[in-house]
Amino acid sequence: MRDLRIAVIPGDGIGKEVVPEGIRVLEAAAAKHDLRFKWDEFPWSCEYFLEQGRMMPVDGLDRIRHHDAIFLGAVGFPGVPDHVSLWGLLIPIRRGFKQYANVRPVKLMPGVPCPLAGRQVGDIDFIVVRENNEGEYSSIGGRLYEGTDQEMAVQQTVFTRQGVDRILKYAFELAQSRPKKHLTSATKSNGIAITMPYWDERVKAMGARYPEVKVDQFHIDILCAHFVRNPHWFDVVVGSNLFGDILSDLGPGCTGTIAIAPSANLNPEREFPSMFEPVHGSAPDIYGKGIANPIGQIWAGAMMLDHLGCPEAGASVVAAIEKVLASGLRTPDMGGKASTTDMGRAIADAV
Ligand code: NAI
Ligand code: MG
Repeated sequence: MRDLRIAVIPGDGIGKEVVPEGIRVLEAAAAKHDLRFKWDEFPWSCEYFLEQGRMMPVDGLDRIRHHDAIFLGAVGFPGVPDHVSLWGLLIPIRRGFKQYANVRPVKLMPGVPCPLAGRQVGDIDFIVVRENNEGEYSSIGGRLYEGTDQEMAVQQTVFTRQGVDRILKYAFELAQSRPKKHLTSATKSNGIAITMPYWDERVKAMGARYPEVKVDQFHIDILCAHFVRNPHWFDVVVGSNLFGDILSDLGPGCTGTIAIAPSANLNPEREFPSMFEPVHGSAPDIYGKGIANPIGQIWAGAMMLDHLGCPEAGASVVAAIEKVLASGLRTPDMGGKASTTDMGRAIADAV
């Protein structure tokens, strides 16, 4: 029996609806694979902010530093500006725990209507690797001459050699481990003519260390078009924080719904806990109706099991998701009528 201690942060909106379904399915996997979960729940959220004036306590990171992993729902809700909720909770965890690799699988699943014409299961199966600690999401910058007609705002992109090389190394290793051994880099070195040529240079240098990996690169604009027109071209796609963020909504969007897409915020060196969450946000427009699709959260749980060294348990969760989707059960975002709990229960049963 292996014990796994997990910090649970349901967060806001549908995070509070889908996290319990994730836990339900992970409990089913634990029962089958000789694991025992201990779930410690933390109420950090926009609601917490409105009461406490902070998204999490001052010593928040210390309270979860020794857990095996973090299982997060979604953060952000009307009433608190999105940059306040993001920079008050998610970004401090991602950066404080050096979770520099944000890994987001994109896969066309059985039974999910694909918005791209003529695509079959198997045609779309790739992984977006997003740099998660620096890049365009930097706190360097500011405003000048506010309220005058000279008003200006500047925010600087930060690419460090360490930061760029470690995400590229992660992406190359991942590509090397997959049958296609193919890595695509997202760039924009024509317009963003200082930082992006630097990124490209580091891709070339890292690529020299992985001669078996086939490398190509596209400017982000045409890459978006290729995601839609030629999704079968891709295997591992690596991008900066901003480009990776965009591609990891576009990719799942091309597979029918962003709601099934999972995301792992990894500290590959395992000095700190890694964090697992769906790609989607708190969806205030559907919160409280019980119709949120819990699959992104559940699949994120499968990635957590993989990371914690329980790949059989992780695979049993993914297989259960595929089985239930193939059976035709669907939440409204996929064109069906199932509720959040219908879906969670069906997947737990299938496990
Ligand atoms: P969103 O992902 O919350 O919603 C986008 C659209 O997809 C909405 O129409 C929503 O109903 C739908 N959707 C999302 N997840 C779904 C699910 N599981 N089942 C069915 N439909 C689903 O993105 P949006 O609207 O841009 O952001 C809403 C809030 O979430 C904001 O406060 C934003 O900052 C936050 N957010 C948080 C993230 C995180 O915690 N990692 C990621 C993205 C947004
Ligand atoms: Mg995003």
